[in-house]
Amino acid sequence: MSAVRQPVLTPPRDCSFDPADWAILARHWYPVARVEDVGEKPLAATLLDMALVVYRTGAGIHVARNLCPHRGVPLSHGWVEGEEIVCPYHGLRYAADGRCTQIPAHPELAPSARFTLQVFPVKVRYGLVWTRLDRDADTVVPPFEAWETAGYRQVLPPYVDIGGSAGRQVEGFVDVAHFAWIHHEAFASRENPVVPDYTAALTDYGVHAEYRSDVPNYPKGVEGDAPAGFVWLREFDIHAPFTARLIVHFPNEGKLHILNAASPVSARRTRLFVPIAQNFNFDVPTEDIHAFNAQIFAEDQAIIEIQKPEDLPLDLTAEAHFPADRSSAAYRRYLSKMGLSFRYTA
Ligand code: FES
Ligand SMILES: [Fe+2]
Repeated sequence: MSAVRQPVLTPPRDCSFDPADWAILARHWYPVARVEDVGEKPLAATLLDMALVVYRTGAGIHVARNLCPHRGVPLSHGWVEGEEIVCPYHGLRYAADGRCTQIPAHPELAPSARFTLQVFPVKVRYGLVWTRLDRDADTVVPPFEAWETAGYRQVLPPYVDIGGSAGRQVEGFVDVAHFAWIHHEAFASRENPVVPDYTAALTDYGVHAEYRSDVPNYPKGVEGDAPAGFVWLREFDIHAPFTARLIVHFPNEGKLHILNAASPVSARRTRLFVPIAQNFNFDVPTEDIHAFNAQIFAEDQAIIEIQKPEDLPLDLTAEAHFPADRSSAAYRRYLSKMGLSFRYTA
């Protein structure tokens, strides 16, 4: 990316993760902001306890450590000038590759490497700014093809801040037995709690599960067009560690794609981004889609925030399981395979 030698990557102070687990999680891409929220003013974000600044110049969007190497002031309090970000305390300026270009107190002095700002790679995908702390890792942004597919409508609701771990959140997203209980006001029913057998398998990226049931996906009160006996297929793909895509197959070839991209702020906090794409419902107002989505994720959030322990136990003997949990059991198994420890959060 740049010829400038970057500072060595180490877990930040007060890191809430086990250091070995942090190093594994740092190898993956996570969203840290919606593109539409990155304006003129630099934005603060946190990923894996690392304070970040997200800012925009004419050349594009950049992500850097939100800590001036001089005296530790967050650069999100500064401003952008041309292609550089300026620290408000002593006016030091940083280029997109992290190089300090100017020390105003000493115009004749060439800033040494000690002044280099840690910067991170950026990919703009699905309306989101993705970054990866470990610049040398060999990983990709999880796919979400429907965002770029003709004939699909794309919607990006506001993000949701959750007082719980990303692992618990992602597991809840692929949990099919909770529909009847937690989402009985949104789309499911307590009269219909039985979970038919389904499949969940490990893949090279995480887990693939296919769940067929008679649980419709229409908001309560909306008259759908499902014929009697219609079988609802929900396809889940977890791109470990914390992104999962769901495709809900509606009648008449309708498809609803939901990307649950959980960004681990810390071991105890998660910022959830949920881009949605669908090939039907073009006349439904965007606000209605936002509202239905917000209702469902708020219902999930209320549970995630009270679960104990807050971190996902990867030791399968730590909690009890029933057959409908096979997607979450597979997820835990995959996270263990990644090398994360049984207590991989804090
Ligand atoms: S603290 Fe940033 S320039 Fe001094
Ligand atoms: Fe849910």
